[in-house]
Formats: sequence, structure tokens, C-alpha cells
Amino acid sequence: MDPVMFLFVLLQRLIQYPPPVGDGLDEETHWRMEARAKYLEWEMLRLEQKVEQLSQKKMQHLQLLAVAVLLALVLVLWIIGWKSSPRRKENEEENHGANEEEVGNVAGNEDDSDGNDVVNEAAFAENNDNDVENVVQEDNNFDDHVGQDIMERIQWPAQDLQRGCGWVTDLMDNYTFYFAHVLLDSFYPVLHRAIGVGSAFEGWSPREQDVVYRVLIPMTPPRGHSFHLELDSARQRHVRNFRVRVQLECTCTGQQLGENMLCFLHNPEEELRSNQEPSLLDTLCTDSYLDVQKTARWFRQLVKAIWPAFPQSHNWHLTLLPSARSCQFNVTTNGEESFRIEMLFGVRRGDSAVFVSSQPREAYTLSTIWRESYAVAEAEFFKYIARQAPPDSLHLKCLQFFSCLVQGLSFSTYTMKTIVMHLLSAMPASSWRRGHLRERLTDIRDSLHICLQQKFLEHFIVGNRTFPQDINLPPDVKMGRTYNLFRHLAQRPAAHTQAMQDYRLLHKRFKRIALGEDN
Ligand SMILES: *[C@@H]1O[C@H](CO)[C@@H](O)[C@H](O)[C@H]1NC(C)=O
Ligand SMILES: *[C@@H]1O[C@H](CO)[C@@H](O)[C@H](O)[C@H]1NC(C)=O
Ligand SMILES: *[C@@H]1O[C@H](CO)[C@@H](O)[C@H](O)[C@H]1NC(C)=O
Ligand SMILES: [Zn+2]
Repeated sequence: MDPVMFLFVLLQRLIQYPPPVGDGLDEETHWRMEARAKYLEWEMLRLEQKVEQLSQKKMQHLQLLAVAVLLALVLVLWIIGWKSSPRRKENEEENHGANEEEVGNVAGNEDDSDGNDVVNEAAFAENNDNDVENVVQEDNNFDDHVGQDIMERIQWPAQDLQRGCGWVTDLMDNYTFYFAHVLLDSFYPVLHRAIGVGSAFEGWSPREQDVVYRVLIPMTPPRGHSFHLELDSARQRHVRNFRVRVQLECTCTGQQLGENMLCFLHNPEEELRSNQEPSLLDTLCTDSYLDVQKTARWFRQLVKAIWPAFPQSHNWHLTLLPSARSCQFNVTTNGEESFRIEMLFGVRRGDSAVFVSSQPREAYTLSTIWRESYAVAEAEFFKYIARQAPPDSLHLKCLQFFSCLVQGLSFSTYTMKTIVMHLLSAMPASSWRRGHLRERLTDIRDSLHICLQQKFLEHFIVGNRTFPQDINLPPDVKMGRTYNLFRHLAQRPAAHTQAMQDYRLLHKRFKRIALGEDN
């Protein structure tokens, strides 16, 4: 096995077998120990091969000697690697208390038992086997900062992410229950069960501390009201913005709801004012359009007001985070575990998987503008893929890998997600099995390159006539004009130049980390 192959296999194994957590050692230490163990395992294999060659020459005496020397060499390499590893030092500085003890013990024992022999053997080894240099060099590559960072991010076990999603779903269900009670007699929008969207719920959020659990809460009109989505075509033609017009409906005849609600249209105003809560038009609307910011403010008040009703509220801690168009907060549980949650809200387009939602894509968006959102359709697409995927499918790890790799470059994670979604639907599920990792990573990189050269990356959903039938899209989304995510590259040469420069950087990082080549 050549060194490049080795690094690659290591990458695969780390992806495949995330280290167990929770038995006292931190993940970093676990990972490092496992990496070291794999490294030695490989080194032993290599040495065994050499030994085999020697034994073929039937030089039994020499063979024994060689085994002894080579075994010593393994120890030398272990210790040289261990001591010179910058990661080790970093780690010791970073880790305090229990972790530091663990690390200290492992290194300490080695020094005690083998310290003296090592020096002599090292001199011998360096003279006689220039492999040492290669190996140390390899070790340096291996310690490469970016590579390490990425490995840390993608090794996070998928089970933790799933558990987090489950917990957040529970919390949201608890909220839904209270929303229904609190809003029962009001004329605020009816809030439905939250739908998990975004990288966490799709299964590829790269790192524990960065995870934002994002949910979309569908809203429907309250009694005596109706919603009408109006495409706002006046501004930019390529983005699909909507406004939600709120209309009052006559309730004179339809008293089927049982309670004596006054009709907003036909009862005298004084009677309405003194006997009935105000209509939605008077609370969350601006010029009879549902206002995103007013809705967000109302939402935050609601979330905060309901919190103390939860039995866990005195042990757990809720922190609302500033946000004009959504409701973001942190919940810290008694175990110091922290979840960052973003609640978006939206109105479903018909019975489709497309919503108009409060999430803006640009910094400045009018408060009555609701952007068409494909987040639910995309999350459904990932579920659809998961149903077909073999258990060892690595498509999510590929996406994690690239979402880390593009950090600091001008490519968004949404760009990478779009490319992966295109590839996922173009290839059979079996081509994402563990053994094809290297090819798939290369495919993703090459797709990005081609799209950049052509300044063209098709939106995965808008204008896609062959989108899976299981996922319901409104006809105008399905049959509409396709949307080029790279249109800014076609329009602005400077942006294209920058993107090509960034691609070269990405290519370099990719070679070093995914293929283990040094330039
Ligand atoms: C949801 O409510 C149930 C019942 O009160 C409770 O046992 C559970 O811990 C709650 N879950 C979350 C995440 O709030
Ligand atoms: C929210 O939690 C994240 C970790 O989940 C943490 O990094 C962040 O500082 C927290 N923010 C606040 C305002 O507590
Ligand atoms: C449309 O969706 C299909 C099926 O998921 C996929 O194969 C194809 O790449 C998509 N096409 C476009 C133009 O986005
Ligand atoms: Zn009426």
C-alpha cells in the first residue's frame, strides 16, 4: 500500500467507524488514538511483508533479527511521531482536567518502559532505513491543519445528529400543543406541526457546535380569514417573491364551529370592537398583507410566554437570539447540552412541498415579502434518497466534506448541496457505497469545475420537469423557467475570476486532504 492510499484508507475508516464517545476520553483523543492505531497497523503490515520477503531467502537467523529491529522501529516511529506531533502539544494545552490526565498517562507509560532503548535504535534505524524520513514526512502531512479540521468536523457521529433532531422535534411538538391551546379563541394564524429542514435534518450538518436545528412552521388562516399568495413580479424576475394577502371571509352562515363568532364583514364595528378580538388584519398585517417582521415578533413573544409552562423550564435555559424574520433561540439542558434552534414560518403553496417562508436570502427584504422556499422539498428529496441508499452510503459525508472544504471560499454550501443533489439523482444509489468514496469526491469536485467554467448551475428544483413524482411541486415551479445559480458569474467577470481563483485553492486543498498528495 502506498502512503497516499494509506491516508485515503484512513480517511475512509474514520468516516466509517466514528469513535465511540462518552467513556471518559474526549472525541479528539479517541480519534487521535484510533488514527495512531491504524497507522501502526499499517506499518506492521508493511513490516510483515518485508519479513516475508526475507524469510523467502530462508535466512532464519537474519529474519529473527529483522523482526526485532523492525519491531523496535515501530516503537521508534510511534514515539517520534507522538512527541513531534504538533497536535499532541496543542491538545495538551487545550485539554484540562480529566482529559489532560488521560493524554499524560498514555505518553508517560511509553517513556518509562521504552525510553532508553529508543535512542540507540533510532540512530540505527535512521542510517539503515530511509523509510523513516518518508514516514515522518507522511506524519507531517497527516497533521496538516486544514485536513485535521475537516476530519474533526466530518467524523461527528451521525447518531448524535439524529438524536439532536429527535430532541428538537419533541420540543417543537410540545410547543405545537401549547400553541393550539393559547391561540384557540384568537384570530392569529393557526400554527401546525413543525417540519425539520436544512442541513441538520437532512443529515449532513458538519460539526456539533455549529449545528442550527431549523424548522419550518406551516401557518394557515384563522376562522373568518383567508390567505392569497400573490407573486411579486415587479422587482427581480429571477427570484420568486410572494406576498400573502389576508382577506376577511363572511361567517354569517357557517356557524358550524359551534361558538358564537361575529362576522367581521357583516356585524357592526362597535359590536365587533367590544365583543371580539381584533382580526388578523389589525394585528400582524401591513396594508392587508401579512407582515414577516410583525409575525416574527409575535412568534418570539409566544415562544417566550409558553416556555415557563414546560415542566423542564426551571432546569433548562432558554435564550432568545436577535432575528428580524425568524425566531432563533438556544436551549441549554441541565446536562449543559446546548441546542440552537431556528423557527421559520411559512404558508404552503396548495398541497405541495413548496412554501413561501420568512427566510430571506438577501440582507434587505421588505417586511411584506415572503420568499418561495424549497427547503421542505429538498428535505424530502434527502429522505427519498435515504430510502434507496445502501446502509453504508456516504453521500452525506461527501456533502459534509465539501461544506467544510469551501469554508472561506466564494462557494456557498448551497452550491455544493445542489451539485450533490444533481449527482445523487443522476447515479444509482449503489455508487455511493463506501468503496466509491474517492470517485464520488472527485466527481463532485469536477462537477463544480465544469459548472464554474460554463457559469451555469441549474437550480435543482425550479423548472425541473423530471423531479421525483413522490414530491409534490406546484405546476408553475415545475414547469417554470430554469434558474441558474451561477448567473452572477455570467454577469460579472470579476466574480468569475474570483471564483476560478477560489476553485484552484479548493483543488489544492482537495488534493492534499482527500487524495493525500502534497501539491
Ligand atoms: C415534551 O413533553 C413531554 C411531556 O411533558 C416531556 O416528557 C418531554 O421531555 C418534552 N420534550 C422536550 C424536548 O421538551
Ligand atoms: C448558543 O449555543 C451555541 C452552541 O450551541 C453557542 O455557541 C452560542 O454561544 C450560544 N449563544 C448564546 C447567545 O447563548
Ligand atoms: C431534476 O430532477 C431529476 C430527478 O431528481 C434529476 O435527475 C435531474 O438532475 C434534475 N434536473 C435538473 C435540470 O435539475
Ligand atoms: Zn357575514
